[in-house]
Amino acid sequence: MFDSVPMAPPDAILGLTEAYKADPNPKKINLGVGVFQDESGRTPVLQSVKEAERRLIEEESSKSYMPIDGSPAYAGAVQRMLFGVDSAVVAERRAATSDTPGGTGALRVAGDYLHANHPGAALWLSDPTWANHRGVFTAAGLTIKTYPYLDAGANALNFDAMLAALREVPAGDVVLLHGCCHNPTGVDPSTGQWEQVAALLARRGVLPLVDFAYQGFSVGIEEDAAGLRAVAAVCPELLICSSFSKNFGLYRERVGALTVVGSTADATAAVQSQVKTVIRRNYSNPPAHGAAVVATILEDPALTARWRDELAAMRDRINGMRRAFRQWFDDRGVRLNPRGNAFITDQKGMFTMSGLTKDHVARLRDEFSIYIVGSGRINVAGITPGNLDYLCESIAAVI
Ligand SMILES: Cc1ncc(COP(=O)(O)O)c(C=O)c1O
Repeated sequence: MFDSVPMAPPDAILGLTEAYKADPNPKKINLGVGVFQDESGRTPVLQSVKEAERRLIEEESSKSYMPIDGSPAYAGAVQRMLFGVDSAVVAERRAATSDTPGGTGALRVAGDYLHANHPGAALWLSDPTWANHRGVFTAAGLTIKTYPYLDAGANALNFDAMLAALREVPAGDVVLLHGCCHNPTGVDPSTGQWEQVAALLARRGVLPLVDFAYQGFSVGIEEDAAGLRAVAAVCPELLICSSFSKNFGLYRERVGALTVVGSTADATAAVQSQVKTVIRRNYSNPPAHGAAVVATILEDPALTARWRDELAAMRDRINGMRRAFRQWFDDRGVRLNPRGNAFITDQKGMFTMSGLTKDHVARLRDEFSIYIVGSGRINVAGITPGNLDYLCESIAAVI
């Protein structure tokens, strides 16, 4: 049976890391995979995480199975992060949260839930979007459609085109929105634009699915939830897929959450029962460790304060590199975009859509050992004070 199975193509982004590792050039730079790196290029374990792990090792008394949707303590902590400490959605018991293996696990469970319970619903993705969205939701059996998002000429949001397309989405379809730090563009709607989108989706009876993988990487935990909260204020039903890979640096522990919001507590309970059926048939119940780390941190005010400081330091480093990257080109009168370089510091989060073409990206890899994904998306967290000059000189040489 196996002899005739063809090789699958390598994952575009993880394949880039393989090529980077094999490159002997000591000046090589990897700006592909979306992982935070400190000034020395390391992806450290946060001190707040280390402390939570010490406590867990000490206190853990069983390795028995978790409930299908994870621990209530974790669910409560996730909901406070999403909706704030005194949210009506939580008080009215209209939210139910499942602990999932990473944000990807949350997306897949959401996809399986939608396919099983809302068979006619198509899913609308922004163009462009995180490369894995299409794969995950196609594997779940959903019909995928797209709405315009980026004005590639300006490296900015094409809000008019986005809104015009969303006006045509039929009731009962699902629209995926990036909670903040849009991947791959770094281009986010303003709070006013979020409110317009939310009102439109509510009016049309379209279900929002908010993919929230970078809460805290733009401005702060509360500020970055403004878009989600604008949606929750007017849309009676929504789905939220959280990832704690980036903001807790827990990538390999696979910590995420799917939160369902229904119009009543009873409706939410019914949807949650269906979500649990999906999980039971998929991976049965979640891994415990990463979610326990998150809950331990968020339930202890001192540890929470430490984590928030560490998160702020990651955010500040990325934003500092954005400013330095832009400054390098501004100082030399080099424009990455005909309209100027302000887009670099306007964009949010880990990524910037640089405007570099496929040819530029190929030359940077072949001549300078600089690895960037084909779309021109740069992981700003891969830039360090040590590689900034070499990177910018190389880019200036190819454009
Ligand atoms: C937009 C978006 N959604 C979801 C994920 C998945 O996160 P996780 O690694 O927790 O599965 C990512 C990770 O890069 C992402 O960028």
